[in-house]
Amino acid sequence: MPNSLTQQIQSFYDASSGLWEQIWGEHMHHGYYGPTGTIRKDRRQAQIDLIDECLGWAKVTQASTILDCGCGIGGSALTLATRFNAKVNGITLSPVQAQRATERARAANLAGDAPPCAHFQVADALHTPFPDESFDFIWSMESGEHMPDKVQFLQECYRLLKPGGKLLMVTWCHRPTDSLAGPLTAAERQQLAWIYRVYGLPYVISLPEYADIAQTAGFQAVQTADWSQAVAPFWDEVIASALDIEALIGILRAGVGTFQGALALGAMRQGFANSLIRFGLLQGVR
Ligand SMILES: C[S@@+](CC[C@H](N)C(=O)[O-])C[C@H]1O[C@@H](n2cnc3c(N)ncnc32)[C@H](O)[C@@H]1O
Repeated sequence: MPNSLTQQIQSFYDASSGLWEQIWGEHMHHGYYGPTGTIRKDRRQAQIDLIDECLGWAKVTQASTILDCGCGIGGSALTLATRFNAKVNGITLSPVQAQRATERARAANLAGDAPPCAHFQVADALHTPFPDESFDFIWSMESGEHMPDKVQFLQECYRLLKPGGKLLMVTWCHRPTDSLAGPLTAAERQQLAWIYRVYGLPYVISLPEYADIAQTAGFQAVQTADWSQAVAPFWDEVIASALDIEALIGILRAGVGTFQGALALGAMRQGFANSLIRFGLLQGVR
C-alpha cells in the first residue's frame, strides 16, 4: 500500500506533467542563467544549459549505463542517452510520466535494446529493482528534495553504482545552519512548510548535511556547489509564463494540486531572494 507522501507526489506529477510539457517543455527543472544569474536567455535554452553546466561541473564526459533517478518525462534521460551513446534507465513515481517518457523515447528512436536507448518505469528511488553495481553514472535532477529518507536515498545510489561510478545530484536545499545566521527561524520554517506541502516535499536539508551523508554512505571525492544565484531568474520566468491565458486555463483544469503549485511560485521566488532556499549540487564517486 503506497504511503501518503508517495501518493501525493504521484498525483502531483500525474496531474501536472501534461500541462508542464505543453507550456514549459520536456525539462522539469530550473534553468541556468550564467554563474551570477545575469545572462538573459530563452527559458528552454536555460534548462538545456543547466544539464550541460552540471555535466561540466561534475566532469562527466562518458558513461555507458546511466540511472536517471526521478526522471520526469525523460528530458534529461533522452539527452544523456544520445550524448553518451548510453543505456539509460529512468525511474519516477508517476505512471503518467513513465508512460509519456516511454512514448517520447519511441518517437526519438531510443526505445530499443542497444545504445543509445532509454527505458522508463515506475519505481521508488529508495528501493529500486536494480541489482548492485548496475550503473556507472547516476543523475538525479531535482528529485532529492522529494525523498523522505535522504540517508537511504544516498545509500541506494551508492549500492547501484559500479566501483568508480559517479553520482551527480542536483537538489533543493535550505540554507546552511552552521553559519552566523544560525538555526532556521520560526518564520523560515513556516515558509518552508508551505512549500513542502504544496510540492510534495517531506523536508529539505542543507548542502553541508548532504555532503556528510554522502561521505558516511561511502562516497569518495565528494564535492558540492551552491548555484542558487545561477538559477534564481527561473522563477520570474515561470511566474510570467503562468500568467498566460493558456497556462491559466491549464492550471485550473489540472486540479487543486497544480493550482496550489502555481500559487506557491511566489514563495519559491521569495525563498531564493532571501537565501532561504538554495540550489545545491553534489557529486561523489563510489
Ligand atoms: C521536479 S521533477 C524532475 C524531473 C526530471 N529530473 C527533470 O529534470 O525533468 C521530480 C521527479 O522526481 C520523481 N520522484 C520523486 N520522488 C521519487 C522517488 N521516491 N522515487 C523515484 N522518483 C521520485 C518524481 O516522480 C518526478 O519525476
